[in-house]
Amino acid sequence: MGFKQLAFVAATLLLHGAQAGGVTSYGDDFGFIGYSIRIYQPECAWACLFCITAPLNCTTGDMAGAVPEKRDVADEPPALPSGDGWEVTLEATPQCQQDSDFFLQTVAYCIKSRCADVPLRTLDNFWDKNVPFLYDGDKKDQPVSRQGYTGVLGAIKDAPSRPVNSTVLLNYTAAVPDEVYQPEYDAIHNYAASEVTHERYGLVIFLSGVVMPIAFSLLRFLPWPASWVARFNAYLVNPPAVGSQHSTPVWGLGIMPTRGQALFIAYFWLINIFLSALGYEILPGLFYDSQSYEVQTYLANRFGVLSFAHLPLVFLYAGRNNILLWLTNWSHSTFLLMHRWAAFLCMLHAVLHSLVYLNMAVAHIGGLDHAVESVQPYWYWGIIATLSMSIMVVASIQPVRQKMYELFLASHIALAVMAIVGCYYHITPKYDFDYGYQTWLYISIALWVFDRAARLFRSLRGGVKRAFLTPIDDDYYRLDIPGATASGHIYLHFPTVSLWRIWENHPFSVAGVARCSSHMPSPVHAPVEGNSDPEAEKTVQVGDNRGSRSSTGSDGAPQPYSSSDIGVVLFIRKHDGITSLLSKRGIGPKGIPVLVEGSYAPGVTFLQDGHVSPTHNFPHLICIAGGVGITGILPSLDSFTAVARPIGRKKLYWGVRTMPLVHSVERMLGYDGKDALERRWGDVDVTLSVGERFDLRSLLEADLCSRPGGTTVVVCGPPGMADDVRCIVSGLSRHNGANGPVLVKLIVESFSW
Ligand SMILES: Cc1cc2nc3c(=O)[nH]c(=O)nc-3n(C[C@H](O)[C@H](O)[C@H](O)COP(=O)(O)OP(=O)(O)OC[C@H]3O[C@@H](n4cnc5c(N)ncnc54)[C@H](O)[C@@H]3O)c2cc1C
Ligand SMILES: *[C@@H]1O[C@H](CO)[C@@H](O)[C@H](O)[C@H]1NC(C)=O
Ligand SMILES: *[C@@H]1O[C@H](CO)[C@@H](O)[C@H](O)[C@H]1NC(C)=O
Ligand SMILES: *[C@@H]1O[C@H](CO)[C@@H](O)[C@H](O)[C@H]1NC(C)=O
Repeated sequence: MGFKQLAFVAATLLLHGAQAGGVTSYGDDFGFIGYSIRIYQPECAWACLFCITAPLNCTTGDMAGAVPEKRDVADEPPALPSGDGWEVTLEATPQCQQDSDFFLQTVAYCIKSRCADVPLRTLDNFWDKNVPFLYDGDKKDQPVSRQGYTGVLGAIKDAPSRPVNSTVLLNYTAAVPDEVYQPEYDAIHNYAASEVTHERYGLVIFLSGVVMPIAFSLLRFLPWPASWVARFNAYLVNPPAVGSQHSTPVWGLGIMPTRGQALFIAYFWLINIFLSALGYEILPGLFYDSQSYEVQTYLANRFGVLSFAHLPLVFLYAGRNNILLWLTNWSHSTFLLMHRWAAFLCMLHAVLHSLVYLNMAVAHIGGLDHAVESVQPYWYWGIIATLSMSIMVVASIQPVRQKMYELFLASHIALAVMAIVGCYYHITPKYDFDYGYQTWLYISIALWVFDRAARLFRSLRGGVKRAFLTPIDDDYYRLDIPGATASGHIYLHFPTVSLWRIWENHPFSVAGVARCSSHMPSPVHAPVEGNSDPEAEKTVQVGDNRGSRSSTGSDGAPQPYSSSDIGVVLFIRKHDGITSLLSKRGIGPKGIPVLVEGSYAPGVTFLQDGHVSPTHNFPHLICIAGGVGITGILPSLDSFTAVARPIGRKKLYWGVRTMPLVHSVERMLGYDGKDALERRWGDVDVTLSVGERFDLRSLLEADLCSRPGGTTVVVCGPPGMADDVRCIVSGLSRHNGANGPVLVKLIVESFSW
């Protein structure tokens, strides 16, 4: 369902002119109101059908049929006669209307005189589908027309002259005077127009949420002077909106957006406030017996549609396989932040929508009665959807995500399903498919299915691999997955680690594609690796693994290993979950089955920013890594390596707690720096800081302000470190250094979302 309909939506939006399309009835097409769906068309015919409220003489049999919802009659109803087997009533059933030639003729004549410019085919079609009309009832009970429009018209002998009178029995063919027709027409017209406005505003939110990130990303391709860009980023994009924390949650509760992110969030709030408040045309009409009823209905419906319009954005922003990630240079963490804000606004609209209708039901406005409505499916499914959304928002606060990530994730998915199902059953009983509100849900579901399917495809594509673990010290280990190839980051699934963790998967950065340390039982290694003593494994490692990088092969002579020895190398820091379970369980000589989902590398399309590479404006590179964050840095170092003489300087500052991690990484890279704090990896100056913190401010000041030429700064490390670098670099590039403006491009690789 999803894809075909998504394609259809796209086509509809492109054509735009679908307005002129053939749907001229109550609407039962797919799409959005005002685009492929038009409601209450032709409005003149609907007004004729609805404005005739005179009492009819109905038989008991007629009245036994489906009862229409009570319509509000402002005045005290007149005393109406009744007799044996018949009654004159204001609440005629469609069946009774069907049997009354006077009623049918009055409607037909009204249509003929009011809809002069509507094609006959359209009117015939309208008649067959809707006359007589079961107001607000179940579509199944809609009576089938007894006679066609032209047939009924033909039976009228003389043009009616006596006006219809809402207190007088309609036992004649009546004329419909303007004062009866016009208010009804206005009300219908206004209602239909308001629905179009709701949908249009919803589309503005949805489409701008998709288009704006792309448009803003494209701006960077314009030939701005590099110094402007650096200043712009330093003032308006990179620093935290308030304070000095971005990666570190503020008071442990939530993420402070960067200024760039804050601008986009502010845009969202503003457009939501404006689009909730504007575009109402309040005309008293027969639909509404009071102004407050009308205002509240329009307001609540607007909130409802805007809530739906956020749903596709919420799903789009959340995805790993998010089309916007490929078309923009925005990071996954930015989209996840936007996911939270879009979700919050979605929830807020849903809550406001519910509150207004609750208020109306409790106050008996507009014929709503809480006791009656609250047992209707549409009502309680609405409550389920609103509650699911609210619980999701509350349960997603930082401390919960941080402390119970897996529990959070599982409940998040379950509640998301509840919310979507709730939304579906909220609108379907009430509107069937006439209003096309389901389209918002279909788009959301399609986006979700796309992401999930792509994940499944990406993790199964490589087949089941085996992972081998080499302990480094108490905190870290190295994980090798021979036969896999990837770049950027990957998600690992360990299907056999624990039954309860089958669905778990975790992101890790690919430190390199290299010769793997432990591999399939080869006669030489098997006996030693069979030994589970970590010390023994370590010795094997040192002796065995000269770790040549697959690309450069730094130790010269090619070694005789098969291609299956080459694989992905990861360095992993133990946390409390699966990362520590893996090392506690011990993996054994045969390795452990693993599914590698990836690669999620930057630069899938040219619109995305690939790994940084030197440019003539930005020849220098400074990398700052904290602990295992080195894995996020290595690709940048790699892409700065050139065959030609390097044009800029490359530096790496790496803060680690202990040396074993350094040795292990160097072994993979093919270097050996012994225990010195200063070392060189190719043309990269590496400075270590073991067990203590760098004075980042003075280091960066010295490096950035002294040299001519721009510098790319890449940081990957603990949140505090990332924040320090973010603030220091932004601060420095707001001012001039010794050589004019300080040109910096800041890239923060994040290990937490
Ligand atoms: C793009 C990226 C690259 C990464 N690369 C590396 C790497 O190269 N080496 C490395 O050691 N770590 C890396 N990490 C961090 C690593 O994913 C987490 O440490 C790991 O998921 C923790 O697993 P756990 O079950 O032991 O965690 P727990 O002890 O259960 O939780 C530890 C912390 O990790 C968070 N976390 C847990 N699971 C996930 C998840 N699936 N996605 C996001 N956050 C999660 C929790 O909220 C918590 O804050 C990377 C993270 C990201 C987002
Ligand atoms: C209503 O119709 C019945 C026959 O179905 C007739 O006997 C009765 O007189 C009619 N009442 C009026 C007020 O016309
Ligand atoms: C409707 O009929 C009642 C009683 O027959 C009469 O008093 C009233 O003026 C009529 N209304 C209109 C609008 O003709
Ligand atoms: C219509 O009904 C009224 C009573 O409500 C009656 O006086 C009148 O004669 C009826 N007219 C016709 C044409 O049957």
